[in-house]
Amino acid sequence: MPYVTEHSLTDIVRPRWTEIPDPRLREVMQSLIKHLHAFVRDVELTEAEWFTAIDFLTRTGKMCTDKRQEFILASDVLGVSMLVDTLNHRLATGATPTTVEGPFHVPDAPELANGADMAKGAPGIPCFVTGKVRGLDGAPVGGAVLDLWQTDGEGFYEAQRDVTEPWMRGLYRTQPDGSYVVRTVAPIAYTIPMDGTIGELMRHTDISHMRPAHIHFCVTAPGYHRLVTHLFQRGDEFIDTDVVYGVKEPLIVDFQKRPAGSKAPNGETVDTDFYVVNYDFILDQAVETAIAAE
Ligand code: BEZ
Ligand code: FE
Repeated sequence: MPYVTEHSLTDIVRPRWTEIPDPRLREVMQSLIKHLHAFVRDVELTEAEWFTAIDFLTRTGKMCTDKRQEFILASDVLGVSMLVDTLNHRLATGATPTTVEGPFHVPDAPELANGADMAKGAPGIPCFVTGKVRGLDGAPVGGAVLDLWQTDGEGFYEAQRDVTEPWMRGLYRTQPDGSYVVRTVAPIAYTIPMDGTIGELMRHTDISHMRPAHIHFCVTAPGYHRLVTHLFQRGDEFIDTDVVYGVKEPLIVDFQKRPAGSKAPNGETVDTDFYVVNYDFILDQAVETAIAAE
């Protein structure tokens, strides 16, 4: 075996890490070692920097609980979460694109009737989101489930409020013609959590730590690709600098202003100014169904 030098080390380590029966793990570890060693060489990492990195990762791990995932936040701000998302959801042209799920989704949201209010007294400007869920061929998808979650009009998710009942989330089912109407309040732009190690790192940069105002959706229907996405408010000042790189052009929508006294899409007359958002979700066929149909 050759002696270890700064030049030979990678070529000594990599063959050892071929002794892995699982071929995918072998492939991942080979690539990881190659790129990790190249990175260390590239920046000529000092011992002090190496120790700082170990300490940073240790403290990041210690911040993680069942309610908080600082490693995912690290992945988000480095663009890794969106890269994984884009690689894993190469949808057909015309399908509504996916974007990151983020850490604030809470399962088992309450089922609400079409047009019902999921804000339930939360602060914010009333906002109605309405449209259809359709397939790529334009056919309506009745019975699709829309799972929504968002901040209230002060920028807080359920996890950030001291509440015992569901807050700013709900499940809606499309009508036989694929249509849906959601009553909510308009979300606002908000900062990612800055009180942990990722906040500490961000403060060493001039990078914005804001996310533009958005509503999260998970749309599911049998035979279709599960769609996890957001709708972003056009004109938001942070639309081009989203800290987690989640904005895709087809997901930017107009929040149309309506004056007090106007009729809303659910048929009610609203006594304050409000917004209407029109959006059709276009679902791609699920891969399993496409294969089964061949
Ligand atoms: C969110 O949109 O909820 C989110 C996504 C990534 C990091 C923080 C928040
Ligand atoms: Fe969000």
